[in-house]
Amino acid sequence: MTVQTFREERTKRFDRALSICPYARVRELIPLLFLLYRDNLQDCTLVDLASGNGYLADVLEPLVKRIIRVDSSSSMLAACHGEACHSETNVVTVDLREAHTKLSDIEMERPDAMICLAALHHLYEGIGEGVDSAGSEALQYGLIQEWVKLLAPGGRLILVDVCIPDLPLSHQSTEPFSTKMDRYYEGREELFKERIFTYDPGFIRSLDEYQPEYSINQQLQDLLSNRTLANGISLHDMFEARHFRGTTPDRLIPVEFFNNVVANYSIDGHVAFFPSEEQIRLTLEALGLKNLLVTCFPTPWLFKSEAEAVWFVRELFALGTEPVLDPAEIIEHPDYELIRGFIEEFLGIDKRANPVYTTQVNWQLMFAYGEKSTSG
Ligand SMILES: C[S@@+](CC[C@H](N)C(=O)[O-])C[C@H]1O[C@@H](n2cnc3c(N)ncnc32)[C@H](O)[C@@H]1O
Repeated sequence: MTVQTFREERTKRFDRALSICPYARVRELIPLLFLLYRDNLQDCTLVDLASGNGYLADVLEPLVKRIIRVDSSSSMLAACHGEACHSETNVVTVDLREAHTKLSDIEMERPDAMICLAALHHLYEGIGEGVDSAGSEALQYGLIQEWVKLLAPGGRLILVDVCIPDLPLSHQSTEPFSTKMDRYYEGREELFKERIFTYDPGFIRSLDEYQPEYSINQQLQDLLSNRTLANGISLHDMFEARHFRGTTPDRLIPVEFFNNVVANYSIDGHVAFFPSEEQIRLTLEALGLKNLLVTCFPTPWLFKSEAEAVWFVRELFALGTEPVLDPAEIIEHPDYELIRGFIEEFLGIDKRANPVYTTQVNWQLMFAYGEKSTSG
């Protein structure tokens, strides 16, 4: 049994939040875009699993041959903005549990990449007696296996989601989470240095050309200021400029935020099984994917003011029954201090030395990447 999420009202609020602040989640997109980039991207067919209203697909659509948006929520797909939304063949309303069957039935080339952003945790088993962890792991494994089967030879799987990181084992019981996360990232330093991506200025410019309001290029330059890009850009370069920890609360970000805030205050609630980093790594290894990368990475959300951050978080997750339509109205709203308090307690909110994006809310995602063998 599953709980229906992203019904009409929740979708409206999610869509409005991203339409007014499309730049907020760009740090989630940047590593993903580097993982996806190839100089023949315009010849590629992509599938965006649980595409929602198309936050990612809208960026990729003009740059690829075809992108197919898949989601179980008809209101999410109805809110989709891009060109493909006018073509029914590129929009598939189906539960991800059945998506592989439906995708094999439609006329399409085998996908060069299957991507799933911020949605794997919606795939779980059980609920009456609580979420069944073993069943949910098995479900996620089985579906990832089907997605890999669908991929073209050499195709890429990119899963990005909230996850339980592989925290260092020693001192595990006594150390605060924030210290464990710091040690986690220290342990990733070499891996991040080794992972170097092509920096193609033409590609970066084209992202801005089609979606200027995301300001991807501007945010990338801000992220990479003072770095030489001629030889490519490493995950370490992006990590170094993150301005992330420091005032981070002692919480497992953003898992505890979902479990304590979204589950209790969102109009649709929130039931989830957050995969563990280890589970996903073992899955991709077992499925024989190559050139693996599985890691957590800081993806802070950026805003033009603190009030905008509070408004965005409230509306994206539909916290509180009545929507606040205009970010300017949030300061006077009785929920302002409550939501601000939740952000401080579970995520952390910081001022930034940036003239435009002055405020950041800490966020962190797992990026899992693997390539199918070219022999299929
Ligand atoms: C947090 S949103 C992410 C949407 C989009 N990928 C993004 O990053 O903006 C989660 C999406 O997963 C979809 N979803 C949840 N459970 C699903 C399921 N079982 N099958 C297909 N889609 C699902 C929801 O409808 C929603 O659009």
